[in-house]
Amino acid sequence: MTTSMLPSSNKHITMDMETILHMKKGLGETSYAQNSSLQKKSMDTLKHIIIDSAIDVYISQSPDCFTMADLGCASGPNALSLVGDIIKTIGGACRTSSYPTPEFLVFLNDLPTNDFNEIFVSLPEFVSKLKIGGKTEESSSPLVYLTGVPGSFYGRLFPRKSLHFVCSCSSLHWLSQVPLGLFDGKNKPINEGKMYISHSSPPTVAMAYFKQFQKDFSLFLKSRSAEVVSGGKMVLAMLGRQTEDYTDKRTTYLWELLAQSLAMMVSQGEVEQEKLDAYNVPFYAPSVKEIEDEVHKEGSFTIDYLRAYEIDIRSGNAKEDGRIISMTIRAIQESMICHHFGGEIIDTLFQNYTKLLTESVEKEEIKSVQIGLVLRRM
Ligand SMILES: C[S@@+](CC[C@H](N)C(=O)[O-])C[C@H]1O[C@@H](n2cnc3c(N)ncnc32)[C@H](O)[C@@H]1O
Repeated sequence: MTTSMLPSSNKHITMDMETILHMKKGLGETSYAQNSSLQKKSMDTLKHIIIDSAIDVYISQSPDCFTMADLGCASGPNALSLVGDIIKTIGGACRTSSYPTPEFLVFLNDLPTNDFNEIFVSLPEFVSKLKIGGKTEESSSPLVYLTGVPGSFYGRLFPRKSLHFVCSCSSLHWLSQVPLGLFDGKNKPINEGKMYISHSSPPTVAMAYFKQFQKDFSLFLKSRSAEVVSGGKMVLAMLGRQTEDYTDKRTTYLWELLAQSLAMMVSQGEVEQEKLDAYNVPFYAPSVKEIEDEVHKEGSFTIDYLRAYEIDIRSGNAKEDGRIISMTIRAIQESMICHHFGGEIIDTLFQNYTKLLTESVEKEEIKSVQIGLVLRRM
């Protein structure tokens, strides 16, 4: 994944995701913390399944210490929201039953450049909210040990058989790298004017993305298969497709409009066409079948639940929706765009993007597709 490991002909695509991709840090106006309501909405559609799966595992294993990991936790309010709900639900269920309340070991994972500090600063408030009914006696607040784990989930992160439960929301559609194969033998970009699979992309583009997904997702499963105990579960939510069509509009339009926003800047002489042609995102929205095939090939997990469903990301106010979607994508993409194009284009680019998004939301329904997946370790 590092520049030195790749042949020089691949110099355009050697963005090292582990050091470049990170959600916008801090608590400012453009931060991920302030612009992650759409991911929260996606997470909430699976919340009951996540909590039920965690309780199932707790009841079947009854460990003294329940160990769980959130993979791709980012920062901001979403980072601790799921683990908080899981702890409160298991703690509450134990108090009203004969089960002893376990201790909790929580691993929050993300890439090393993630804003872990912002999460740690919010820990005292998080812990105080775990106290049932606001009581202060120790018996009313579960013991929680929380730790940050910087590293890529496309590889081993935890000791063998150490996890009871894993969740990951809005993260697994990120690939470990921009796929190899988006440049020809002469180092010329083949996905000209686009940054993801598009109707105008040659078929090799979709193939390059699909191959990278297969490689990454199989490594993800293999790594977790070593780490999750037998009977443990993983609940994974990611953007995906309801059809086998790689160019399904619901998975491509956000990238199409971002490429159009850059093209506007090319026509105004503010961005070089060559730079736009060479920019591709390390993203892939898989289909249910593609996921199923990889799970079966890897062979350590059974599928308890697998479904692709639409999420309506509009609120009814086109102008506000255009702004929210634009700010969401900015908080996610700013680090990569600044690295590739330079930071001076960012404000104008996202003004263009907000305008195109608002026009688009006014004209037609904008929905995204999420895949929910529950896997049980055999
Ligand atoms: C859109 S955020 C989602 C964060 C949070 N789960 C939520 O629902 O709001 C995706 C996160 O996945 C992280 N991520 C992407 N690739 C990763 C990898 N290979 N290993 C660990 N984290 C990764 C990103 O850094 C980012 O913080």
